[in-house]
Amino acid sequence: MNSLSELDPIIATRLSTLADEIAQHDGIPPFGATALADLRRPAPRDSYAVLMEGEDPVGFAWCDGTSAEFGVHPDHRGKGLGALLLKAVHQRYPEAAVWAHGNLPGAEAVARAAGLKPVRELWFMEADLSPIERQLEQDPDRVTASLQPPASMVLRGFREGDEDAWVETNAAAFADHPEQSQVDAAAFAELREEKWWQPHLLRILEVKNPQPGEPRIAGFVWLKPSKPGAMEIFVVGVHPNYQGQGIGGLLMREAMTTAVNMGAARAVLYVDGADEIATHTYERQGFVHKGADVQYVGATSPATN
Ligand SMILES: CC(C)(COP(=O)(O)OP(=O)(O)OC[C@H]1O[C@@H](n2cnc3c(N)ncnc32)[C@H](O)[C@@H]1OP(=O)(O)O)[C@@H](O)C(=O)NCCC(=O)NCCS
Repeated sequence: MNSLSELDPIIATRLSTLADEIAQHDGIPPFGATALADLRRPAPRDSYAVLMEGEDPVGFAWCDGTSAEFGVHPDHRGKGLGALLLKAVHQRYPEAAVWAHGNLPGAEAVARAAGLKPVRELWFMEADLSPIERQLEQDPDRVTASLQPPASMVLRGFREGDEDAWVETNAAAFADHPEQSQVDAAAFAELREEKWWQPHLLRILEVKNPQPGEPRIAGFVWLKPSKPGAMEIFVVGVHPNYQGQGIGGLLMREAMTTAVNMGAARAVLYVDGADEIATHTYERQGFVHKGADVQYVGATSPATN
């Protein structure tokens, strides 16, 4: 595996195109946002293994040292290239976990043949927004009433100056979450550089007069325009001081109503399948399980312990 800066600089653009072609064929992207964002950086921080046929990349793997993803162009499958990519990852990072987005049969077979075992599931859930759309037409006052925050709080869009309080609440809500807990001030600033970023789509539940030591943001829900007609609930978090008081449900209703007002017909989200509180919160709001990304690790990796 090489750092991308050791490879031909035009390869990065070609790898983004390859990732798009695979996603289009499979109906699910083979790489997550981090792997793709890294391809756009002037000096990518992570590692890539690229398989070339002549001048063309036909498959590649990405790894940040602990987590890996890989994809092979549909015209080049069934020739052992997936297994080669996985081998390249594990030669450099023997304990890296591998994500199979959608757990498609090819990826599952490659992972199992390499002796890896599934250890984590990231569920993909979806909700039909037409019941909320109907309610908005027939009884808008009822919808407004269902979005009323507690008297001591205000529900509003993100504003400049919210950064530190957001990072604090995010860190507290996601203390046990391997990826979301890593979103520090710098990573949050990077997310706000994404093309889809719109401040009003990060809904903030602000505590009007927090006591000393209390969080200023009780919770938040962040929307990300997804495919046409769909809105992703990118992340929802409630500060532990306020969990279990109906705030998660309120934030989900706020997000889904905002999505309808922006013309979305369905809402989608990803959630750790083992997080029963979160999956229950989403099911209560009409979300149903549609598929899963599965994480595989080697039988001897510490992640299985
Ligand atoms: C998941 C989360 C957003 C839910 O928010 P919340 O304000 O705690 O949830 P609510 O009080 O609105 O409760 C929603 C449902 O979950 C249930 N619930 C909440 N906390 C619970 C607990 N500790 N144990 C059991 N059930 C619980 C509630 O009873 C309610 O179900 P009901 O309507 O059937 O009674 C919040 O717990 C959180 O931020 N967790 C950490 C971050 C996270 O996992 N985010 C989601 C993944 S992206």
